Amino acid sequence: MALIELRGVSKTYPPTRKGGDPVRAVDDVDLSIEAGEIVGVVGYSGAGKSTLVRLINALEPTTSGTLEVDGTDVTTLRERQLQKVRLDIGMIFQQFNLFGSRTVWGNIAYPLEIAKVPKAEHQKRISELLHFVGLADKAHAWPEQLSGGQKQRVGIARALATSPKILLADEATSALDPETTVEVLRLLKRVNTELGITIVVITHEMDVVKTIADRVVVMEEGRIVEQGPVFEIFARPQQPATRRFVSTLVDDVPDEASVVSLRRRHPGRLLTLSFRDESVSQSAVFAEIIGRGVEFELVFGGVEDVRGRTFGHLTLELRGDRAAVDEAVRAVSALVETTEVA
Ligand SMILES: Nc1ncnc2c1ncn2[C@@H]1O[C@H](COP(=O)(O)OP(=O)(O)OP(=O)(O)O)[C@@H](O)[C@H]1O
Ligand SMILES: [Mg+2]
Repeated sequence: MALIELRGVSKTYPPTRKGGDPVRAVDDVDLSIEAGEIVGVVGYSGAGKSTLVRLINALEPTTSGTLEVDGTDVTTLRERQLQKVRLDIGMIFQQFNLFGSRTVWGNIAYPLEIAKVPKAEHQKRISELLHFVGLADKAHAWPEQLSGGQKQRVGIARALATSPKILLADEATSALDPETTVEVLRLLKRVNTELGITIVVITHEMDVVKTIADRVVVMEEGRIVEQGPVFEIFARPQQPATRRFVSTLVDDVPDEASVVSLRRRHPGRLLTLSFRDESVSQSAVFAEIIGRGVEFELVFGGVEDVRGRTFGHLTLELRGDRAAVDEAVRAVSALVETTEVA
């Protein structure tokens, strides 16, 4: 059984102004998340990602549908029982949400106090957590004395204090620079592999998904429009929204402006090759071109490594005898997906 299971879940908010329409923030969502997974949820602003997370966290009631966490249907629980479910779920945020009036130690102690963990056990648990996130020397620092990356480490330690099964991260790296983002993602990966915690990462950055997630879920207007293993989604995005997200990571076909600029410098035949699996090597493809006495130059595109597998799009300019170029295009098209650049 899945650790988190949503079936037909919707969340409608009342109109935000008089006479306005209700907002269907989450719309008929089915989603299963298995124990031990890292799932990335992507979508543009307003897609319903944060609402989805608040529903999973039982911070807000669903409007309809069933939502099970670890086998318990949270939609029917009373507040007292919900508090128990919430102990199984840790959460971290974009703005870290640390208590400025508490030290690092005090921030991590907070959930232990709420869960009524005996004071005598705090010392051991908090120093364990501080070591795990690499902040053993910052126990008595105040949040304002920490860098963004350090604050998020405290956020992670605090979220883990009550040993949850699930960690929800809502844009947890969006306020961090790229290097710090990589560090925090590495820490989250350890949370998953060393502690066995299931992680749901909400983000609008495909890079984050690529770095950490096993599976990706794409949301648009409250709905899940596409989901699957990260490599599959990156290599063969089906929906326009997914394609737009993937193209933020790797250039696929040159856009209109790029074509105009390419044409100025490359009068030959332009062909985009899409590599989506490793059964066909790039060298095999290039051999088909060279073997026909056709010259080529790489003029656009790139490849990405996702989970040890390569995918990407390369646009070539082919030059040479017309018939030989035709032959080469035919041969290449038999091996990989190709698109002529007009
Ligand atoms: N409490 C609320 N009352 C009314 N409308 C809400 C409320 N919370 C969210 N919404 C609306 O629900 C929709 C989804 O919002 P949500 O915050 O879940 O999007 P998001 O995908 O997290 O966006 P972002 O990337 O900007 O964080 C939006 O149209 C938003 O205005
Ligand atoms: Mg949000």
